[in-house]
Amino acid sequence: MRFPDSFLDEIRDRLPISEVIGKRVTFDKKKTNAARGDYWACCPFHGEKTPSFHCEDRKGRYHCFGCGVSGDHFRFLTELDGMSFPEAVERLADQAGLPMPVMDRREQEREEKRATLFDAMELATAFFEQKLQASEGAPARAYLRERGLSAEMQKTFRIGFAPDSRNALKEHLSAKGIKPEQVEACGLVVHGGEIAVSYDRFRNRIMFPIPDARERVIAFGGRALSSDVPAKYMNSPETELFHKSNVLYNYARARRTVHERKQVIACEGYMDVLALHAAGFPNAVAPLGTALTERQMLLLWRLHGEPVLCFDGDEAGVKAAHRAIDMLLPGLEAGRSARFALLPEGLDPDDLIRQEGPEAMGEVLAGSVPLAEMIWNRETASGLFDTPERKAMLEKSIRQVIGAIREPSVRRHYEQDMADRLAAYFGAGTSGPDGWDGGGNGKPRNRARQGSGWREGGSKGQRGGVVASPALLSTGIFKKGKTHVPLREAALVMGACNHPAIIEAFFDEFVSLPLSSQSAETLRQWLVDFHAECAGRGEAMTHGAIRERLETSPNAETAQRMDGQLAQNRIWQFRSDAAFEDALEGWRQAYTLHMRAKALRNELKAAETALSADDSEENQERLNTIRAEIEREEGTEALIDGFGFSSGRPMKAL
Ligand code: UTP
Ligand code: MN
Repeated sequence: MRFPDSFLDEIRDRLPISEVIGKRVTFDKKKTNAARGDYWACCPFHGEKTPSFHCEDRKGRYHCFGCGVSGDHFRFLTELDGMSFPEAVERLADQAGLPMPVMDRREQEREEKRATLFDAMELATAFFEQKLQASEGAPARAYLRERGLSAEMQKTFRIGFAPDSRNALKEHLSAKGIKPEQVEACGLVVHGGEIAVSYDRFRNRIMFPIPDARERVIAFGGRALSSDVPAKYMNSPETELFHKSNVLYNYARARRTVHERKQVIACEGYMDVLALHAAGFPNAVAPLGTALTERQMLLLWRLHGEPVLCFDGDEAGVKAAHRAIDMLLPGLEAGRSARFALLPEGLDPDDLIRQEGPEAMGEVLAGSVPLAEMIWNRETASGLFDTPERKAMLEKSIRQVIGAIREPSVRRHYEQDMADRLAAYFGAGTSGPDGWDGGGNGKPRNRARQGSGWREGGSKGQRGGVVASPALLSTGIFKKGKTHVPLREAALVMGACNHPAIIEAFFDEFVSLPLSSQSAETLRQWLVDFHAECAGRGEAMTHGAIRERLETSPNAETAQRMDGQLAQNRIWQFRSDAAFEDALEGWRQAYTLHMRAKALRNELKAAETALSADDSEENQERLNTIRAEIEREEGTEALIDGFGFSSGRPMKAL
């Protein structure tokens, strides 16, 4: 609705702006002069340590000398809290003790309709919560327990359970006086078209209520309990209340903690947000089943100037990170950027925290890299820039990427930054690319950077000519965790450790098994050596002998940790008490998957290199084919999950 200007002015007059702002920031005692109505604080719009955010009661405005934001009472709430303008007016009128002006009839009806939708969503939330505690919620409670979600967490996030019924919720809401049209408008039932009788949309699912910025439930995400359901997660459709691309899960809670944490984390899923919260990172949000959108990025920037975006460390995660770069660039502004954190391969934050604890997550966050470095890594990943033409091509592609930045001053700084990196990369002192560092300012080009990512990556000392690739893999974020072992590698090595006859059966395979993790590698070598030693004595290497020898070996801890990983992931067939046939078959399958994944990754790398050297259609085609193959392969791996074994126990995909 349109509010009369006189009404807005009255709010401004009655309510000193410092009272509005003071609810959200702590004013700096030294710099502030309350008697003059002159206040200073650390800016809530961008993270900072010294106060450059100023507001003045006399003028009724705020301004930050650090990031440049400014505005009035209403602007403060719409910008910082993501409130709509009418919401901000309502909130401030309330704070000022003014009654809201009367709306015209149509507006009033619309408002009332929205209000009843919120009511219906609230009733549904309470219904699901109650069903989780009811007898039919037992399997759901067991599931949540197994995933490590405490009762307290369930309460905090209002997790619930949608019973396996086509009308339980429908009837419950109807009994509470909610009209069928409203239930439909909430997206809680499937209706319309061919469907004669509407029915509950969410059935037999764990329910995650999705609150808006004011913590009213506007949608749900539902997770299937079993894996034989087509969609693992199902979300509410778009409704009057819910516009998926403009909502972040856990936004309101993250906002409350962001000032204290000085950080906001964006991850992929509901379970990641919950795991992060439980591990002491309440400042995490997630989009809802899509890649981060520009609008969600704007929401994040309201919380912090440099949100940390977390991605899975596998091929798909890196691809997603690369897409995020292109989404981000146009919206960059002074003080607005992002950092990238990549998780160890194959793990999401939930997995990582469960397998290695909160500290490991803390390390991943601490190892996040700035956007500029991420761009540089992406553009140079293929790593063969040994001819003038290839160098020129790298330059061209970087220039193109940077060109997407709309804000001229940020773009200029990026140009400078990339020019510096290129100069250092192609060899300090040699004449660098011309006309590229912001108009040729005549400075020498050998401002080699000490701290840029690729230099730390193992290509140190090489200059000019063929420079080793600053491949993503060698930069800080991709560093192998000192302790982390990918699950499949742990399974392959522990399988052999617990059933040494596997080593006899697959000796060549075991000896040459490519392992990315150093500790798995060391343990494998230890096993191979011990195997040779036993053979030399004419003895078989038994599990008992291995365990005895391990006790005094520096590998004991590794083995124990990897055992724990298998137990946590319920990979029972490699345990020492599993039948040998199961262990052997499990090992064969895991090995096949491992080698196929490895081969595809190699092909991908080769294809990317080829494409960077020769931008032909043929090379593009080849790359696309391999990417498609990898995606399909990932799909197949998931399919193996749940296949029964002869012993009747399900096999977990590795
Ligand atoms: P993931 O497949 O990574 O699931 O999807 P997850 O978060 O690790 O969940 P768990 O651990 O298996 O329970 C990430 C996010 O993508 C959306 C959901 O929002 C999920 O949280 N998603 C996933 C869907 O919307 N539909 C799906 O079928 C799968
Ligand atoms: Mn997960």
